Amino acid sequence: MAGVTLKDALGRCFRDLRVSVTDRCNFRCTYCMPEEIFGHDYTFLTHRDLLSFAELDRLVRLFYQAGCRKVRLTGGEPLLRPDLADLITSFRTLPDLEITMTTNGSLLEQYAESLKQAGLDRVTVSLDALDEAVFAALSGGYSSAGRVLDGIRAAEEAGLLPIKINMVVKRGVNENQILPMAAAFRKPGYILRFIEYMDVGSTNQWKADEVVPAAEILKHLEKLYSLVPIDPNYHGEVARRYRYLEGEAEIGIIASVTQPFCKDCTRARISADGKLFTCLFAEQGVDLREKLRSGAPDAEINGLFQQVWEQRADRYSETRSEISTAQGRIEMSYIGG
Ligand code: GTP
Ligand code: 5AD
Ligand code: SF4
Ligand code: SF4
Repeated sequence: MAGVTLKDALGRCFRDLRVSVTDRCNFRCTYCMPEEIFGHDYTFLTHRDLLSFAELDRLVRLFYQAGCRKVRLTGGEPLLRPDLADLITSFRTLPDLEITMTTNGSLLEQYAESLKQAGLDRVTVSLDALDEAVFAALSGGYSSAGRVLDGIRAAEEAGLLPIKINMVVKRGVNENQILPMAAAFRKPGYILRFIEYMDVGSTNQWKADEVVPAAEILKHLEKLYSLVPIDPNYHGEVARRYRYLEGEAEIGIIASVTQPFCKDCTRARISADGKLFTCLFAEQGVDLREKLRSGAPDAEINGLFQQVWEQRADRYSETRSEISTAQGRIEMSYIGG
């Protein structure tokens, strides 16, 4: 299968793999893992449920053969998995593979240097506010914006650049952070992305009126800055890019609700327990762990993935208005976004 380009039923190529390495997180963001649901009595996956690093390494090699050229490590919080750098070291042997990670940043100060040494190319850090009270309201009162900023600084020092900062904007909660965040990250080496709050999962009680649409986010920014739209960096980029008229810096807006990007969706996902999903809004995945643990040969797993990709026709964000229920949808913390 080397050198293949898999195409799905809508003509979309497979390029990117998002790998969730744990469903646990040390934050409780209201839009992702609300404390009321993910409290002390919530049952997370056990150690045995999780794919081992050896299993993950084998899967990533198979996906690489199927055309994957970017792997993004996600969670939950990926840095809760000890020795994550070892996994990166093993992926690094694959030529031309971009290796990235999305993290909440709280443990980055500790790990940035070893992740860079292992071969991580760059990092994306979620940060929804600079103001500590707003940060606490969104993330559940764990850690602090200051600590995340220390992690971001450590990532910069380690050379994990460019650093993307993800800010989910929720109406009535952190719109007042749009301009302070823009000012803080308007500098070389940083790309701040504003994300429309999505109706992912079934626990966050998402309501359409809590979404701050991309057009409104831009209006906030245009109070202080002139912005010019620029072309995507690569085919299938989820963020729409804008450059500040003055200076070199840029921002992105990820408008999955008001400007869906399903037609260029090049992503497959593996959950922490080894299920394969294509759409982020899927209800059921295909169990790859069972294949790995029952001794299936490479060709069988490759064949299964090829079949899943070639049949995929999902485009949830483009059809969400026709679909009314969130029941049964997988959680963001399980699939990693
Ligand atoms: P790069 O462009 O490589 O930096 O990464 P990315 O923007 O694809 O990844 P990241 O983990 O930073 O995701 C940013 C936001 O976009 C998160 O809120 C994701 O959940 C969302 N996102 C990423 N991929 C998809 C997708 O396929 N569909 C939808 N609806 N949202 C997505
Ligand atoms: N809507 C939009 N973005 C979300 N994220 C988590 N939950 C949601 C949601 N409901 C973001 C995180 C992280 C990225 C992987 O997804 O903040 O940056
Ligand atoms: Fe954890 Fe990220 Fe979800 Fe927040 S958004 S609870 S940091 S996985
Ligand atoms: Fe891809 Fe589904 Fe997101 Fe659309 S909603 S971009 S199909 S993951």
